[in-house]
Amino acid sequence: MWACRRRSMTTVLGIETSCDETAAAVVVDGRDVRSNVVASQVDLHRKFGGVVPEIASRAHIECLDGVIREAMETAGVGSDDIDVVAVTRQPGLVGSLLIGLTTAKTLSWVWGRPLVYVDHVLAHACSPAIGLEPPPWPAVALIVSGGHSSLYEIRGFDAIERLGVTTDDAAGEAFDKVATILNLGYPGGPEIERAARSGNPKAVAFPRTLLGPDSLDFSFSGLKTAVLYHVHGPGRTQGGLERLSEQDIADIAASFQAAVVDVLVRKTMRAVDQRSADAVVLGGGVAANKAVRQALADACAERRLTFHAAPMAYCGDNAAMIAAMGYHQYARGERADLAADAQAN
Ligand code: KG4
Ligand code: ZN
Repeated sequence: MWACRRRSMTTVLGIETSCDETAAAVVVDGRDVRSNVVASQVDLHRKFGGVVPEIASRAHIECLDGVIREAMETAGVGSDDIDVVAVTRQPGLVGSLLIGLTTAKTLSWVWGRPLVYVDHVLAHACSPAIGLEPPPWPAVALIVSGGHSSLYEIRGFDAIERLGVTTDDAAGEAFDKVATILNLGYPGGPEIERAARSGNPKAVAFPRTLLGPDSLDFSFSGLKTAVLYHVHGPGRTQGGLERLSEQDIADIAASFQAAVVDVLVRKTMRAVDQRSADAVVLGGGVAANKAVRQALADACAERRLTFHAAPMAYCGDNAAMIAAMGYHQYARGERADLAADAQAN
């Protein structure tokens, strides 16, 4: 007699508190996202023009329980249905990471379920694979967020090689700082993108820093300084903004964005050439930028490369990518050491 064999499913609760988003998600088998709840703290930090670590930690404490409850309710699961707890352990603000880590350790212990620690940037790197079967590997991954601009070669969820990193300001950080220079508000990325829509990307020839001819590292601080001096005058850091019209500001935003996009595309294509890759994936908060997505999609189409950008819901910080990555780590036997601490880097 034939027994009907049903493949067992693994349901992972993911928790993410590395910066200023409190997030929880329920994901089955690393690709089927049943819920993805994100409580943004943007309103709390706006008046300071950036993330205030102490405020971030307190806000995580206040809302994490509710966010986890909502994620489980939306997914229609109770604690008995959760097979694994996955949590971001690094990198991030230590005080913020600790809230998620302590909560995850507690749930794992109380529910008697295994725990896995996830690296936030690697989770961003694999986020374009969520929902894709089979996953898009091997691929070159461009990950652009507030803290990182990185290139990876991903051959599998457990075979990720870093090819290049941020040497100074990350791409998102440059967007945020240029938005501050132009007085466009916080967070800067979406504001620059909005202003750039009515600007001329060729109005100002801002520098494209490519570093050495083979380098896959990124440097955006020179570009940021070029914007600063363009606004205020050479060597000056204030006094120039008042002289600019709304159109001037839109032109600067568009020209800055074009310079970032240009560097990101050229570096990614360098990595493709060096690794003879035929697929590219894009993730991280800056991947929400339509100019970045489109330019990379066009460059890939021109070279007949496969291209996958992370779905918009998984670009900014979220716990679906943590649960998804956690699933793959769990599946290959990783288990967390409950004594381990959060790590800033
Ligand atoms: O991945 P993420 O949410 O957090 C980190 O891990 O850092 O990325 C946040 C960054 C911020 O710098 C934000 O300004 C940028 O992503 N960002 C954007 C856009 N949306 C968010 N940058 C450019 N264009 C956007 N539409
Ligand atoms: Zn992130």
